[in-house]
Amino acid sequence: MDLANYLASRRKLVEEALEKVVPPPGAFPSIIHEAMRYSLFAGGKRLRPILVLAAGEAVGCPADKLLPAACAVELLHTYSLIHDDLPSMDNDDYRRGRLTCHKVYGEAIAILAGDALLTAAFGVLAEEVQVGCSPEATLAAIRELALAAGSQGLVGGQVVDLLSEGGSPEAELVEYIHRHKTGSLIRACVRIGGLLGEATQDELERLTRYGEDIGLAFQIIDDLLDIEGEFYYTGKATGSDAKKQKLTYPACFGIEKSRQVARELVDRAASTVEELGEKAWPLKAIAHYIVERKS
Ligand code: IPE
Ligand code: IPE
Ligand code: MG
Ligand code: MG
Ligand code: MG
Repeated sequence: MDLANYLASRRKLVEEALEKVVPPPGAFPSIIHEAMRYSLFAGGKRLRPILVLAAGEAVGCPADKLLPAACAVELLHTYSLIHDDLPSMDNDDYRRGRLTCHKVYGEAIAILAGDALLTAAFGVLAEEVQVGCSPEATLAAIRELALAAGSQGLVGGQVVDLLSEGGSPEAELVEYIHRHKTGSLIRACVRIGGLLGEATQDELERLTRYGEDIGLAFQIIDDLLDIEGEFYYTGKATGSDAKKQKLTYPACFGIEKSRQVARELVDRAASTVEELGEKAWPLKAIAHYIVERKS
């Protein structure tokens, strides 16, 4: 199997599972379920849930045992996108190729749709015990996601990102922002796959280092796509970071150096999971895909 086939097959599993974990659009109060579904089913790459599956599979766990966790991280990620786009945050009009949630449903419903997706994520993750994971592993995964999403993870990164708008380029600060607003959830995805897959200590440690490297690389490439990307592929407006004077990697280091750092990070990530053997091939391929992607 090549990476394109792997991604397509895992994406299909994730799409089918996601469909079942959110209430149908008509469920009362219908406006909130419509708004949640509008953003959730707008055609994201599903990279984070696929990372949960690929990390679990790399340590010998079948993908179907990881689907609740895969759905949970995508619900949480989608909440973060809805809130990130709000007028009080990045104030963006397009996401996943369509108008942002608040543009269609208004700010109040968009905030609540984010809240509902975030909350649902933990309920869905707890369902891991129903598909055969141990209560201990499930609890460890819940804790992992909570820490990664909170004030010392994703939220912390978003706070510093907002406070740094218009500030002078500072390497340490931009690294903090990227490792937290984006890196911590990506790190959690591979760790959750490992925890639920009963990884050994050594395997979990490798997955963690892999997650940290690809997480930072992922956000560096996101910054570059904001400059050099095309709406057709990214589904979001380009030039958004420059307009808000965001503290980004290219603002700090320039385009060439940023790309070089991202390449070095994914090369290192790919060699970190080499030791996990043949079953880790999708993780290796995903690392390289992260720097080559257009969307
Ligand atoms: C966008 O994430 C937000 C960042 C953390 C950079 P993705 O690029 O994974 O967005 P989707 O899920 O494919 O829409
Ligand atoms: C978003 O970073 C990080 C989170 C949503 C947590 P960005 O603000 O760079 O993401 P995009 O470019 O809007 O997708
Ligand atoms: Mg942002
Ligand atoms: Mg943004
Ligand atoms: Mg961005």
